[in-house]
Amino acid sequence: MTNSKKHDATPSTTGAGAPAPSDRHSLTIGPNGPILLHDVHFLEQMAHFNREKVPERQPHAKGAGAFGVFETTADVSRYTKAALFQKGCKTEMLARFSTVAGEAGSPDTWRDVRGFSLKFYTSEGNYDLVGNNTPIFFVRDPMKFPHFIRSQKRLPDSGLRDNHMQWDFWTNNPESAHQVTYLMGDRGLPRTWRHMNGYGSHTYMWVNAQGERFWVKYHFHTRQGMEFFNNQQAKDMAGSDADFHRRDLFDAIARGDYPRWTLSVQVMPYEDAKTYRINPFDLTKTWSHKDYPLIEVGTMTLDRNPENFFAEIEQAAFSPGNTVPGIGLSPDKMLLGRAFAYHDAQRHRIGANFHQLPVNKSKVPVNTYMFDGHMAYEHSGNQPVYAPNSEGRAWADTSGKAEDGWEADGEMVRSAYTLRAEDDDFTQPGILVREVFDDAQRARLVETVAGSLLGGVRSPVLERAFEYWKSVDPDVGKRIEERVRKHQAPQPAPGMSEG
Ligand code: HEM
Repeated sequence: MTNSKKHDATPSTTGAGAPAPSDRHSLTIGPNGPILLHDVHFLEQMAHFNREKVPERQPHAKGAGAFGVFETTADVSRYTKAALFQKGCKTEMLARFSTVAGEAGSPDTWRDVRGFSLKFYTSEGNYDLVGNNTPIFFVRDPMKFPHFIRSQKRLPDSGLRDNHMQWDFWTNNPESAHQVTYLMGDRGLPRTWRHMNGYGSHTYMWVNAQGERFWVKYHFHTRQGMEFFNNQQAKDMAGSDADFHRRDLFDAIARGDYPRWTLSVQVMPYEDAKTYRINPFDLTKTWSHKDYPLIEVGTMTLDRNPENFFAEIEQAAFSPGNTVPGIGLSPDKMLLGRAFAYHDAQRHRIGANFHQLPVNKSKVPVNTYMFDGHMAYEHSGNQPVYAPNSEGRAWADTSGKAEDGWEADGEMVRSAYTLRAEDDDFTQPGILVREVFDDAQRARLVETVAGSLLGGVRSPVLERAFEYWKSVDPDVGKRIEERVRKHQAPQPAPGMSEG
């Protein structure tokens, strides 16, 4: 065991605390005789073993995390009244990093987007920011999310992962182009979790003490510097150490090399959102840093490993719906869909009272009108279980305009967002390829995409993929097509001269 500082010296007990008879021998009639049904300790061990797994997270199953502290170092009180973002405030926190598509035992270094989940145990309740290592996402309507995830997972018959299915989904949903460009670029293979940035990705709302509202985007920049694997290194690592990222984070913290990130935000005045040239709530877009430059907020440091992976990481429950006063959601449809999805997943995955577990529990008193249910541990004693009541138990009673709300009106429709002047799917990925990537990065992008397309992608998806990349960038698209066609051309039989 790598981290066992102290072991319990007392002999083991049953679940009820009585001395356990033996952890080596079951109870039998004579040394060679049958096992007895009243060996309660044996039965308890067998039965509990059968129940020691819980369902893994549907997406983001493979991950690990650590505890730490967030310190607000700048004065951003003109934008938010949230206690955790007041200058000088230090807040205990938990971070979990993950891959999206792979299962709980899958290699850390498969090409994928990485999850970047944060839970801040603030003095006003828990605040969760559940983001990724990219500032954007594949789709902009939550209705598409289950379809997207399934296209990245496994085929119904063989149970294999499938490039064809992935490219079929992406090319049928061109809004994916920006995120797919990130994914097929270097960011799809971070060297470690310590060497990647994190983003809230969505637009969130901040509200200050005067009730003024702002739109914000979160950026966590790694102080370790961004580092990446190339395809071969990632492949080798997947074969030699499937848990490389998990190990790297745990070992770094164990040796006192605490990873740190600087949090900055982009802040958009509330009214600007109405006229900005792109829809600022579209999760497939970034905001120009020239229009909305980064404003530094503070530092996140991870300095404590979990003592028990299952209790503190596997049972951790993050949700974009966990906000605190001074922070709100936004009209981003994806974010609003997520506000429901996470706690629902956790009620299924962990149980209805997941919020009572130590890792999920707020550090401030909880006074909720949710009662009982499986494994209820916390309770509010003999107090009224209904509100309002005449017995003196308080209840929440805000009414009127929601301070973190926004105006909404109109017919109920099923529709894409209304398009603005620069709302198209390919401009931003094109800029990423031409202006952010250098020649070497573009060459790696061509190799990676062509390699993926050569892995069983069939017509007409293949031709659609060429068009998709030509729409991102004509030159890169042409090079991808040439590279794939060259490898598809019939190869001369071994030993035959090409001349
Ligand atoms: C409508 C869109 C989405 C839905 C319905 C959705 C749903 C889910 C669900 C059900 C889980 C598992 C939660 C659990 O079992 O504890 C999950 C995990 C996660 N999702 Fe999403 N997701 C969506 C979009 C996104 C986006 C846009 C991001 C990033 C910007 C994201 C980042 C994550 C991360 C990081 C985790 C892992 C949480 C952890 O570490 O425990 N998801 N998602």
